[in-house]
Parts: sequence; structure tokens; C-alpha cells
Amino acid sequence: MRAGKIAATLVFLMTVVGVALSQSANLIANVPGRKTTSLNGPWHAIVDPYETGLSERYYENAQPKDKSDRIEYDFERSPTLNVPGDWNTQRESLLFYEGPLWYERSFAYQKREHTRVFLYFGAANYVTRAYLNGKKLGEHEGGFTPFDFEVTNGLRDGGNFVVVEVSNTRRPDAVPAMRTDWWNYGGLTRDVMLVEVPEVFVQDYFIQLAPGSENEMAGWVQVSGSSRPEAVSLEIAGTDIKKQVTTDARGRAEFHFPAKLQLWTPESPKLYDVAIRAGEDTVRDSIGFRSVRIQGAQILLNGKPIFLRGISLHEESPKRGGRATNAEDAQTLLDYAKELGCNFIRLAHYPHNEYETRLADRMGLLVWSEIPVYWDIDWKNPATLANAQAQLRDMIARDRNRASVILWSMSNETPIDPARTAFIQNLADSTRQMDPTRLITSALNHTEKAGPNQEILNDPLGQSLDVLGLNEYIGWYVRRPEDADVMQWTTPYQKPIIISEFGADAPAGRHGDPQTRWSEEYQANLFVHQLDMVKRIPNFVGLSPWVLVDFHSPRRPIPGIQDYYNRKGLISNHGERKQAFYVLQKFYKEMANAPPVH
Ligand code: GCU
Repeated sequence: MRAGKIAATLVFLMTVVGVALSQSANLIANVPGRKTTSLNGPWHAIVDPYETGLSERYYENAQPKDKSDRIEYDFERSPTLNVPGDWNTQRESLLFYEGPLWYERSFAYQKREHTRVFLYFGAANYVTRAYLNGKKLGEHEGGFTPFDFEVTNGLRDGGNFVVVEVSNTRRPDAVPAMRTDWWNYGGLTRDVMLVEVPEVFVQDYFIQLAPGSENEMAGWVQVSGSSRPEAVSLEIAGTDIKKQVTTDARGRAEFHFPAKLQLWTPESPKLYDVAIRAGEDTVRDSIGFRSVRIQGAQILLNGKPIFLRGISLHEESPKRGGRATNAEDAQTLLDYAKELGCNFIRLAHYPHNEYETRLADRMGLLVWSEIPVYWDIDWKNPATLANAQAQLRDMIARDRNRASVILWSMSNETPIDPARTAFIQNLADSTRQMDPTRLITSALNHTEKAGPNQEILNDPLGQSLDVLGLNEYIGWYVRRPEDADVMQWTTPYQKPIIISEFGADAPAGRHGDPQTRWSEEYQANLFVHQLDMVKRIPNFVGLSPWVLVDFHSPRRPIPGIQDYYNRKGLISNHGERKQAFYVLQKFYKEMANAPPVH
């Protein structure tokens, strides 16, 4: 596409971005640290493939007024679904269901003076329409980020009801679009709760070390509900840090001051109790402080080069199957990663729930967090860009105070194309504006062949990234495992490279010789050759093989082998460790004991 045209597109896209960014959702930060009432539990549900509920006004949750009144739905007598949870694994009949479904939940509420109330959703896949007592609250698009609606004026003293329509219908202009190698779980997949705050409250904050510094604090606090300057205090327990700042006309207070703190590291994940006060509101959070930056082709954590011993994982419950939704699921998944010897986890391919990132803070696991710009997206569609921007904004807004999160990933395995590159470059630019303290990456999978065994990682998107992720499937989708021994990789980029994916399918307990595909021996053999090859890749700073646990995928139908599971897990969906698990565990033990990276 001619340079002029690209520029014009860029300018246009920038305006769209400008709009999207200016619509910064007033997401309430740190909901777990607020006064909340859970609405989790059984919700009545009506499956509505033809979306009849809109014209029949299901959101009114009506009952017939008299014997001749026509109401053609009845939440009260409709079976329930558990929230949080996907609907697919709760009913056999809904396993493959893609479409609209209506939820209803009644609850009692006692109104309080000088209190604002928000209805908060941890996430819902994919498009959500929410109603309170028959009135529309709003809509949300995107399956993996939180959203909230103010309900202060809509709430009644006593009986209330919420009706929520959720549809996981796939669309070519959505994010992700029509094809994914993960199950399109639908529903209210994360916690739903009422959040109570004083009229003037601490809506959001960013409290971290200044970009590239280990002894300067820099950040801001956003106060909502006041038109006059508000005094804000910031206190860090266990230190002498007690700061007073004042908000400006926009309700924002910025601060920058020297601070001597014990830095957060995977080995000693020190978290501080931080208290932020404004007006009647006090928000407490556990925050770790660490710096992460690039030096040449190395990643420096707190000024020292680090090697990332990682694993990729999906947000699936290893116990129940279906979406992981709670602290117990997060503990099981991250314990698996620790058992492997990891200090790094790639949360693929969408922002996982907050239980995981907060647990990673406590367990000392570095995190790669990604938005689902996955495979083919409608790159030229401004609405698709605005949607991706909104998911990016909300991913960052939720986890910007998590020390564990060091990498924001813009995309996974996208085609080399100018419109794509412009699209993702825009996301990278917005990320730098929203968060200059972390690194930007993407998982790339297109390399240029430079000879029978030579591949060049020169994707033009690399220019917009701080760290390059490389997904390569030598030995599975291309060539044989042993061919890794002769592969040569080069790159024009003097930037750190993470091997973000490699792997092979093997149902646990299926055996054969190392050449027999779909056997544990084949998978283990592939890991042996891969782990030798990756060490020869230039600028290699770490890896996150594919994948921690077998996961559900609509693209994997082979009976008796896949049964709609991607079997590249090192652990089966029943918790069985495969041979390759121990190959990687041994490698990580050696890497952990190896002399520090220079
Ligand atoms: C891709 C992709 C994953 C997918 C994996 C596979 O690289 O990023 O989402 O599951 O390969 O094919 O198993």
C-alpha cells in the first residue's frame, strides 16, 4: 500500500484511537480491595438462540398479571447456571452452544446514605447487555476484561433483580474473530458483585517505581465524585513513606519521590501494604516494586539480566474443566508452573482472571499478559481497532499495579501485512502512553527462509516491540524433532527474543517409539531437541513452551486421541505429568543453577 495511503490510514486510525482512549472507562481499580456484595451463585438462565428476548423484553423479568396476560418466558421456573462459570461445561446440551443466553438474579439491597454502588463483572464472554429492575444499564464487548455500571440511582430498598444477556456469537470484526484454538466458552465467566464506595472515592491509581529506576517512585491517583481539589494521602506500611498530594481539576494527583524499598523478585516476591486515602475513602492494596527494562538484547529485572523459565497456559480449570474462575483454580495452575521450575508464565491468549495475576505477585512468577488479537482480525476496520484498544486499556487498568506483570502482549501469530502492522503498532503506541514501566511484545510466527535450515526472524512488526516472541513448531507442524539440531536462526533485531511457543500433542499414557506421533515419547523427544536448539537462538532470554495443561479446543476432533482437546499439555486435563514435563523440569533445574546471565 502506497506510503501516503498508509499515513492517511494511520491518521484516521489515530483519531479512532484518540476517541477510544478518551472514552477511558472509569473502571474501578482493585475491586477485591473494596466493600463488595457477591452476586455469585445460581442464576436463572434462558437459552435464546434467536435472541427473542430483546423483542419479548426478557429484561423486564415479568410475570403474567392475570390469567389472560401473555408472558412467553419465566425466569423463576427456568433452570439455573452457576456464576461465575461458562455455560458450556455446566450442561451437556450447551457444550457447543454459541449464541445469546439470558441470566436473571434477584437480590435484596438496603440503600445507604452518601454511598455510590456499581455493578461489577470480572468478565463475560463475549457481548453483554445488562439491566437492573428492567432498566438498561449498558453494554460491553470483549470476553476477558472487567467492566462496571453505576447503579446507585437504579437500586431499590428491598427487592431488586438483574437481567443480563450474554452472547458468545463469533463475528469476523470481533476480537478474537472467527477462529481460535481454544473453546469459545460463553457466559458470566468471572465474579459478579456490587461494589460500594463513598460519594468521593479513589477510582484508580498507578503506584510503581519510575520507568527504569530502582529508587524513585512515580505514579498517580484518580479521585472520582469531586469537582474541587481533594487531599490524597499515600502510605506504605513498613516504610517511612507517608505522602500528601492534592488532585487537580480532573481529580488527578501525580507524585514523584525518592524511595528505598526492598525490590520484588521471583525469588523474594516482597509485597508492601499500601493505603491510599481521599475523602472518606481508603483503598488498601498489596503492591510489589521492581523495575524492568531492556538493555541491548537482554531483559533487566531490577537492573540485572534475567532468564525467563516459562510455560504458556490457558485459563481453564485443571479440576473441573471449563473456565478457571477462582483462587483454587489459580493455585492449582501456578503450583504446576512452580513444580516445573518456572519463574515466568505466559497467560495465553487473553487477560486471565485477577486471581492468577495477584497470586503470581505472591508466588514470584513473572507474567506475560496478552489481548486476544489472535490469527486473522479485521485489520482495516476502525471499530475492530477501537475494540482491541478498549480491551488493551482495561487489561492494563486492572493489572497495572501487579509487580509480576512485566510484558504486555499485543497479539499472537498474525499475518505479515501493512494494515496488520499499522493496527498493532497503534496498540503498542497506546500501551507506551498508558504504561511506560513495562515491556511490549507480540508472539510472531512468520520467519523468512534463508536456506534449507536457516530462518530469519525479520517480521516488520518487530520494530514496534521491545521484546520479540517467537512461536516455532519445528518437529510438529513442520519437519521432524531431530531437525531442530541443524536449524539456524538469525534476526536483524538487536532485541531480546522469547521462544513463546513450541510443542507436540501427546495424550497422557499413549506410548510408542520417539518417532510415533501422538505418543509421550515423541513429545519428550521433541522437547529434548528443542531445548538444545533454543540455546543457539540469538538474543535468547527465555521460553514459554506450549502448553502447561491439555485444554479444550473445537479444532481437535480425533477420537481417542484428542476428543476436542489440544493435547500439547505437559500435564493432562486429569493432572497426569507426561514424560516431557520431566524433560523441561530437568532443563529448568539446570538453568536455575547455571551461573547468572551476563
Ligand atoms: C499456535 C497458537 C496456539 C495453538 C497452538 C497449537 O501456535 O498460538 O493458540 O493452540 O499453536 O497449534 O497447538
